[in-house]
Amino acid sequence: MSAVLTARDLTRHYSLSLGLFKPAATLQALNGVSFDLAAGRTLAVVGESGCGKSTLARALTLIEEPSSGSLQIAGQEVTGANKAQRKQLRRDVQMVFQNPYASLNPRQKIGDQLAEPLLINTRLSAAERRERVQAMMQQVGLRPEHYQRYPHMFSGGQRQRVALARAMMLQPKVLVADEPTSALDVSIQAQVLNLFMDLQEQFNTGYVFISHNLSVVRHVADDVLVMYLGRPAEMGPSELIYSRPLHPYTQALLSATPTIHPDPNKPKIKLSGELPNPLSPPSGCAFHQRCPHASERCTLERPALRPLDGRQVACHHAEELS
Ligand SMILES: Nc1ncnc2c1ncn2[C@@H]1O[C@H](COP(=O)(O)OP(=O)(O)O)[C@@H](O)[C@H]1O
Ligand SMILES: [Mg+2]
Repeated sequence: MSAVLTARDLTRHYSLSLGLFKPAATLQALNGVSFDLAAGRTLAVVGESGCGKSTLARALTLIEEPSSGSLQIAGQEVTGANKAQRKQLRRDVQMVFQNPYASLNPRQKIGDQLAEPLLINTRLSAAERRERVQAMMQQVGLRPEHYQRYPHMFSGGQRQRVALARAMMLQPKVLVADEPTSALDVSIQAQVLNLFMDLQEQFNTGYVFISHNLSVVRHVADDVLVMYLGRPAEMGPSELIYSRPLHPYTQALLSATPTIHPDPNKPKIKLSGELPNPLSPPSGCAFHQRCPHASERCTLERPALRPLDGRQVACHHAEELS
């Protein structure tokens, strides 16, 4: 397998000033994230709000430098790349945000916004650019007359189609989508998800698909990375994570998602309490205060991410929970 995106032990720490006479604090927004993403495959990243998903997205798309760790795009190391190399690498990794309106220019026609990446990065003529834009618009389900329209004239779902079209204009190797359907009406979420999958098939793009909701990514994910308070809790092939989750946190997230055919044999776990303060994370396992299986060991010793039963899991008691 040749990976289009490789992350090794990525971390991102923020230094926060808590006030004039107080020492700066360090917020560990991201810790120890490693994965390989192959062309045409989708890694879903899930976890509650505040667990570090957007921080990971910004690191993967070179918006922010990781504090440590290694990141490779199609085999080329990002950390330490010079300016010209970074410019090229940025082309290869595109991003779609939760709120497409914020990423579109309100005063520029949609067609011109879609043509912009071509204008900056290619030597295509105006006519050729227009042709490419029209073709992409058709692929994402927009009509030719939409070319002349402004963002405010579109619905939320259409705007996300535009954002996806723009991200795909240069046929990136990797697309990072941060909660791309979370702001949309439930009725159109599935359409937009299907469009993401259609374009992936067509361009063989590697996707990192972020959502706080495990059920949203169920049908798009090849692999799933479950994050808790900035760290991987469990990561593995989608069918294993959904059918036999081992981490109590994954189990709780899955219990919370409604299914059409609930399995009466599966224990229902309710996620109680709130995400701990990331500025003073709990000792041991960060999940222990909310975990129904926590033992004394969990309060003292942070569980390492380790291979077990076809996936990786960070839980002292994973064997007993399988
Ligand atoms: N620029 C920043 N400065 C300081 N803290 C940040 C910054 N960005 C994010 N954080 C903190 O990092 C943690 C993870 O945030 P984020 O990646 O946005 O989570 P998610 O996208 O999963 O909701 C949160 O505790 C958040 O407050
Ligand atoms: Mg986020």
